[in-house]
Amino acid sequence: MARKPLAVVILAAGKGTRMNSALPKVMHPLAGRPMINWLLDTVKTLSPQKTIIVTGPDMPALEAAVKPHSCAPQKQRKGTADAVKCALPLLKNFKGDVLVLLGDTPLITAETLKNLIKARGAGGLAVLGTQLADPKGYGRLVQNDDQSLEKIIEEKDASPKQRLITLVNAGAFCIDGTRLENWLKKIGKKNAAGEYYLTDLPEIAAKSGAATHVYIAPDAAEVQGCNDRADLAALEKTLQQRLRKNFMQRGISMQDPDTVYLHFDTKIAADVVIEPSVFFGAGVTIESGAHIKAFSHLEGAHVKAGATIGPFARLRPGTQIGEDARIGNFVEIKKSTIGKGSKVSHLAYVGDCVMGADTNFGCGAITVNYDGFNKFKTTIGKGVMVGSNVNLVAPVHVHDGAFIAAGSTITADVPEDALAIARAATETREGRASKLRALKNTAKRKKA
Ligand code: UD1
Ligand code: CA
Repeated sequence: MARKPLAVVILAAGKGTRMNSALPKVMHPLAGRPMINWLLDTVKTLSPQKTIIVTGPDMPALEAAVKPHSCAPQKQRKGTADAVKCALPLLKNFKGDVLVLLGDTPLITAETLKNLIKARGAGGLAVLGTQLADPKGYGRLVQNDDQSLEKIIEEKDASPKQRLITLVNAGAFCIDGTRLENWLKKIGKKNAAGEYYLTDLPEIAAKSGAATHVYIAPDAAEVQGCNDRADLAALEKTLQQRLRKNFMQRGISMQDPDTVYLHFDTKIAADVVIEPSVFFGAGVTIESGAHIKAFSHLEGAHVKAGATIGPFARLRPGTQIGEDARIGNFVEIKKSTIGKGSKVSHLAYVGDCVMGADTNFGCGAITVNYDGFNKFKTTIGKGVMVGSNVNLVAPVHVHDGAFIAAGSTITADVPEDALAIARAATETREGRASKLRALKNTAKRKKA
């Protein structure tokens, strides 16, 4: 049988009061991206004819985030049934499956949604349920003896006995599009919250003689909702676990996966090793064979094949680390390109710099890229030796093969193959150390 056409309505007009935030709830990020976009990605795999997002009257950021899908504004937040009503003008003459989802339940899988659609079959509707050891806050599913759905009772309206039910409404409905409007019209607001509950729909459908089904999601974690910041943290945890698992299946080693934080756009090739406590911010690409050591923080960086980063390294946006290069501990690199096989091994800052291949950037050396007003570039050639504790005052160009003595402050370009020394000469006075000590001790005694 050919599949019925599908329309998806996502409810996202709620203010998310319990989040205590100026940001609409569904715009809160998970792995660096608004939760609504995760849900939209999943929905896309179902190839719906249309996807409609019900938004609040004051949510321009949300409208921008869900483009090019249509938004149906809900002027007043009068409940989840009223929110679905707002989408009806965009569903005129639609006769297929209408899948209603909650924007604050973003980790639901395509597999589960497909099963929910299948569960409705030719019936009136199917509701996605899940078993929860602690069902507090969720609507409870009241089933008939034959497992069909009699009704949903919201927590606020449930009797103590009904509250013991652990099968809850996970917040996804698949409804017969030809009957949706009629059933919605019958929903009132005689309940504890004084709202139009979408959860009244199953009882109305059942009373009209339609079959009402329940499909139980096998994994409660995927249907976890987000009502407050603790829920947001729980969702982040679930999503991170999913992302890590995905990478490990594709050939990436993680010694302690639970401590690795990924961004939605992180790209890691096979045979990369990631040590414990590594954080990936936006825009990171790691090529094959690279090794990211413990406690490193990477953002907007491209690490080429075979390079080693960390431990305790910080790569900031605009950074490219060449093949087999080595970036060691307490090194910060910003908006710079490090050539193939070059080494920045300890305690260094490299900013706004282009560094050639096989160069050694010594311990404690830095590019002085900022004069308090503007940023300037440093160019370092290939095969250069920058000694320890060198200051390269930009703009400056150190040409191929040059050698800069430790402790130098370089303020002019260094030609190819030149040795540059820019530091005070050492003055040695034989036998003066003990005299100095004696002098200091006398002064101390006088003071006391
Ligand atoms: C809802 C369900 C509950 C279910 C739970 C699952 C109802 C009445 N209750 O409760 O049975 O167990 O989700 O997570 O449906 N929204 C609007 N307009 C409104 C009100 C809400 O668009 O007027 C949107 C919100 O943005 C949110 C979603 O609908 O994305 C759910 O609303 P919320 O208030 O969080 O419902 P719950 O109390 O969690
Ligand atoms: Ca909710």
